[in-house]
Amino acid sequence: MRKPIIGGNWKMNRGTSSQTVEMLKVLKPLVKKIDNVDIVIAPPFTALESAIDFTKKTNIKIGAQNMYFEESGAFTGEISPQFLVSLGCEYVILGHSERRNIFNESDELINKKLKKAIALGICPITCIGEQLDEREAGKEKDVIRNQIEGSFKGISQEDFEKIVIAYEPVWAIGTGKTATPEQAEEMHQYIREVINQKYDEKVSNSIRIQYGGSIKPSNARELFKQENIDGGLVGGASLQAESLYAIIKAAVRY
Ligand code: PGA
Repeated sequence: MRKPIIGGNWKMNRGTSSQTVEMLKVLKPLVKKIDNVDIVIAPPFTALESAIDFTKKTNIKIGAQNMYFEESGAFTGEISPQFLVSLGCEYVILGHSERRNIFNESDELINKKLKKAIALGICPITCIGEQLDEREAGKEKDVIRNQIEGSFKGISQEDFEKIVIAYEPVWAIGTGKTATPEQAEEMHQYIREVINQKYDEKVSNSIRIQYGGSIKPSNARELFKQENIDGGLVGGASLQAESLYAIIKAAVRY
């Protein structure tokens, strides 16, 4: 059985040490006894160190929201994956739709970052998802297939097993419009089908696929009940410890 994973993507919403510790102080005791859901918080770079220090020896893991694919050099403004490793960062979100759409990140770039993250032992939460016009044109599956082909190009089966995928329909991110559990499940099933064709059934059955896009305590359980949805990547609702905790609880499989 796949272990659900809940990621809290704070985006650029809370970035000081004190704000971060304040939230984690509330979350830590709430989730203390949860051992059957992986919990990852991804604050901005400026709060990574304090988040990692504060969650040492707990079941809360810390992730970055992005990284570069080179380890060092003249890349002003970029963050080396090696810096993340030395901080103790265990996860990194790659290819988020905001990176793809606002910062023009291509599948090719995401692929380079993905390979580097795997090589350095950071678990990449890799995002894929279609835009509203693509869904309205009935092209969502083609878009997803292309993103899988591009972002995961040249990844060996052994490395592929180290990845977490987040399916995030762009039209559902931060809009309050969640995909229905059936819509999400259909896409998750499709993603497994593509992975099965690319690798094999063992990989497609074992890889964890999160849903992302306006997850709230009120809709989380219905989404996570779907057979192919293994938790979620949560934006807005991950900023408050109580709402994130409610979402984490909804992911527990009894
Ligand atoms: P949202 O963001 O939950 O605020 O829609 C999800 C995401 O961007 O990962």
